Amino acid sequence: MSYDLIVIGTGPGGYVCAIRAAQLGLKVAVVEKRKTHGGTCLNIGCIPSKALLHASELFNEAGHGFAAFGIEVPKPKLNLKQMMTHKQETVDANVNGVAFLFKKNKIESFTGTGTILGAGKVQVTADDGKTQVLETKNIVIATGSEVTPLPGVAIDEKQIVSSEGALELDKVPGKLVVIGAGVIGLELGSVWRRLGSEVHVVEYLDRVLPGTDAEVAKQFQRLMGKQGITFQLASKVTGAKASKKGVSLTVEPAAGGNAQTIEADVVLVAIGRRPFTENLGLEAAGVALERGRVVIDNHFASNVPGIYAIGDVVRGPMLAHKAEDEGIAVAEILAGKAGHVNYDCIPGVVYTWPEVATVGQSEEDLKAAGISYNVGKFPFTANGRARANRSTDGFVKVLADAATDKVLGVHILGAGAGEMIHEAVVLMEFGGSSEDLARSTHAHPTMSEAVKEAALAVDKRAIHT
Ligand code: FAD
Ligand code: NAI
Repeated sequence: MSYDLIVIGTGPGGYVCAIRAAQLGLKVAVVEKRKTHGGTCLNIGCIPSKALLHASELFNEAGHGFAAFGIEVPKPKLNLKQMMTHKQETVDANVNGVAFLFKKNKIESFTGTGTILGAGKVQVTADDGKTQVLETKNIVIATGSEVTPLPGVAIDEKQIVSSEGALELDKVPGKLVVIGAGVIGLELGSVWRRLGSEVHVVEYLDRVLPGTDAEVAKQFQRLMGKQGITFQLASKVTGAKASKKGVSLTVEPAAGGNAQTIEADVVLVAIGRRPFTENLGLEAAGVALERGRVVIDNHFASNVPGIYAIGDVVRGPMLAHKAEDEGIAVAEILAGKAGHVNYDCIPGVVYTWPEVATVGQSEEDLKAAGISYNVGKFPFTANGRARANRSTDGFVKVLADAATDKVLGVHILGAGAGEMIHEAVVLMEFGGSSEDLARSTHAHPTMSEAVKEAALAVDKRAIHT
């Protein structure tokens, strides 16, 4: 059997690519080594983490938030098993949805590890060792990423866990130490903090959420602190010993100095992810890698004709929606159309309470690039809907080019920021200005009015501050 396209890996990059290619009339097969489709994101990433973030937030609200609205409920009781059932049902519905879409689009699915034998040839090795070779005109590598290990801190997924184990704990740890104040550390740290753990975060840098606008990150850290999460910045973990009693961590200042010992019931290692290309046969096929990532050109093509790559396994942010859009773009290119991803307009969201949502450049990026800009800021404390919702933490920040007023970045810290950011994404996709945003009528009363006010503030004419 010969295909137009074989996609290896059915995470958000791979499955979306396969569906788009099939829509465009290509004969498509996918190869996935997991039992279910959806990759890291649907099985052990975005979706289960959001299921637990939502459930734990409701638990927290019932315990601490309802009373101020005049709702008196008994102290909520945690049923962790049911919360995990909710998480699993959410995952199942999503991964089954992908299998349904494959059938609907007549995409053939092979379960096993895909190895590229050369351009046009993919070997599938099933769990029982049986192999078969498939022929194809094109191959898209969408094999994603895996947890970056930390030397001296061996992950056992019970006491010393990665994000995978942190989504599966069968009881609330008394003390959770998180290594890495990035997205995973703060999202999953929030989950367990809300469910009752003492959460302490050890971070190598002198700030949280590296890459995020520093003012936003600083305010965010303050809010996380108010929720009881403690931070030890500019520190590195150099070793861990697990015993029946718990885990003993050795921590040193990042710049060197005296070591200290921290005890924990559970340790979450969340220091980043790295591209996954094990058993893919890239070396034999002659596919070039750079720092573990498949090297691609602007059309997602590797150095070997007929072999393409997308998602976490290539350059750029490791985000599901970036992988999906690359999947669509490469499918369109393979079908003779003009696929394209605008890397300047990829939003990033941290799904904590409140959320952090950003698109475009931070103030630090603009300073480093020597671009003159104007800033407009608006706090949620001055927004009527935020007051009604008792969600006044945070602010919106709009950065616009000083000469042209083109919006270069929007950063939102606040409840629902992950939904609000998209008007900025669309505005920036169309090359809009802060004046365009300021003149767009926003419904009242909405949290989104703060986005309009921040745009007005670029020209120092916000109404409500
Ligand atoms: P993946 O989703 O990693 O999929 C790759 C697939 O390829 C896997 O199913 C793997 O089994 C398969 N595979 C690998 N090698 C082979 C082979 N040789 N043969 C066959 N199959 C193979 N991103 C967001 O945008 N929003 C979020 O909220 C978010 N939350 C996250 C939470 C957590 C805890 C984690 C860990 C990640 C989160 N991410 C989030 C990141 C997101 O999961 C990734 O960016 C996304 O999954 C990348 O998609 P992908 O298709 O490139 O790869
Ligand atoms: P990350 O890159 O976001 O954060 C890792 C943190 O660990 C950084 O702050 C880094 O400075 C720190 N660090 C590195 N080495 C360290 C060490 N030895 N000791 C202490 N700190 C150390 O990586 P994270 O949180 O593991 O997430 C991986 C990726 O998954 C993210 O980059 C993101 O792309 C994706 N993701 C996205 C989510 C979302 O979009 N909401 C949610 C979760 C993950």
